[in-house]
Amino acid sequence: MSTPMDALPRPKTGRLLNVARFAMSPLRSLEQWERLGEIVHVPMVGADFLLLTDPEQIGEMLLDRERNFVKDGYTRELGRVLGQGLLTSEGEVWRAHRQLAAHAFTPKRIKSYTEKMVARGAALERRLREGERIDLHRAMFEVTLEIVGDTLFDADVSGDAADVGHALEVITEFFATSVEAYLRLPHSWKTPNVVRLDRATQVVDRVLDRIIIERTASGRDHGDLLSALLKARDERGKGLSRRQLRDEAITLFLAGHETTAITLANAFYLLARHPFERGKLERELDEVLGGKLPTADDVPRLQAADRIVTETLRLYPTVWCMGREMAHDAELFGVRIPKGTQVLGSQWLVHRSERFFEDAHRFVPDRWKDGLEKRLPKFAYFPFGGGARICIGNHFAKLEAILLLATLAQRVRFEVDRAEQLRFRPSVTLRPAKTIAATVARRIPARRPERDFARL
Ligand code: HEM
Repeated sequence: MSTPMDALPRPKTGRLLNVARFAMSPLRSLEQWERLGEIVHVPMVGADFLLLTDPEQIGEMLLDRERNFVKDGYTRELGRVLGQGLLTSEGEVWRAHRQLAAHAFTPKRIKSYTEKMVARGAALERRLREGERIDLHRAMFEVTLEIVGDTLFDADVSGDAADVGHALEVITEFFATSVEAYLRLPHSWKTPNVVRLDRATQVVDRVLDRIIIERTASGRDHGDLLSALLKARDERGKGLSRRQLRDEAITLFLAGHETTAITLANAFYLLARHPFERGKLERELDEVLGGKLPTADDVPRLQAADRIVTETLRLYPTVWCMGREMAHDAELFGVRIPKGTQVLGSQWLVHRSERFFEDAHRFVPDRWKDGLEKRLPKFAYFPFGGGARICIGNHFAKLEAILLLATLAQRVRFEVDRAEQLRFRPSVTLRPAKTIAATVARRIPARRPERDFARL
């Protein structure tokens, strides 16, 4: 016997208050709703929401029964900027693009980006002075933006970095805070927020157009993601159109830079708060790297760095909630669910649940020793989503985060004031609500005699 959706537990508040609370404080709202039951029905203005709290159900949504779903309304709103890129497209369009884009994310291609990632990390490290005060998030945003520019377009975007960085900020801010995005107002309504969004999108488009035109004309393989996309052909020999290239490029630009920047800033914040863990990382770096810059071959031995990234993504999952919309009426999880219902599965809730993680609110990188990930139920840890639409950049992101952590932590520490707290203003990502001020302390890595050669 299946349960009608209306019989599920739900908050006592009405639709308007539910939407207002969620918009103002999404993480707190999720935590409160989670206490009501395993599947919770949250009526909101314009749509009904179902919150899933069990990994098995989240697996049904993302993997086993994914054909019942399309991306949720909020993700579709991103189409205002991303067009029909990988994140926002559906069905055959998505399938064809995913196959083409996969050429840009083969293990060989990803490995070939290592040097560019490390070079940008090392340049940042060299700029940092003892005692300097920096905004941790801004520093990480800048370096990951440069890396996306280098690896995606083989183009130095640092000349455009200020404009593009500001434009990307306006775009992400729109999706974090604007009424237009939350209530999904018609795209033709040119409110001041929408005008600002359009202008920001044009700034990014101008830079992307220039790069795509130059690149199409030259026809040379630059060994970057854009070359892979330009070269990619489907089984009928068809490549991507200019518009499609633009949509994929802006998608990768947005999806590929902020996520890793936030992860890194959070990791450095956590290390500042946990000097013992930082000490373990530094000992590993001295032992494995002995003062030299990391290469792709070092990565398998940077186990402590890997665990720090894994644990940071557990405690502060950069993508904190995944949304889908019912494509048609169906019976799932023992519930009759009408078409159009928005279904949520949240990394923020599951990753922080004592059901799966002892001392779930503590930062304990060593919990990942001895194969915890394999012992966990599927979808108890899913920072990169899962199923067919799993993050296409997951290996890229993990590699970038480990390499930047290793490159920077070898030679600098970021100290954070005791009073400094991480606060979030979540949109698609778990964005910081305010800057994190850090003080730079230089450190000298212990060099292993046999590896004591000049820095690259
Ligand atoms: C720590 C960093 C990252 C995290 C936590 C992350 C997380 C995610 C998640 C959870 C999804 C699934 C969304 C859904 O199914 O609704 C996703 C999709 C995606 N990510 Fe990432 N991501 C990261 C870095 C990257 C990077 C570096 C790139 C590209 C260079 C990238 C490109 C994409 C794309 C294109 C999609 C859409 C894939 C599709 O639907 O086929 N991401 N990401």
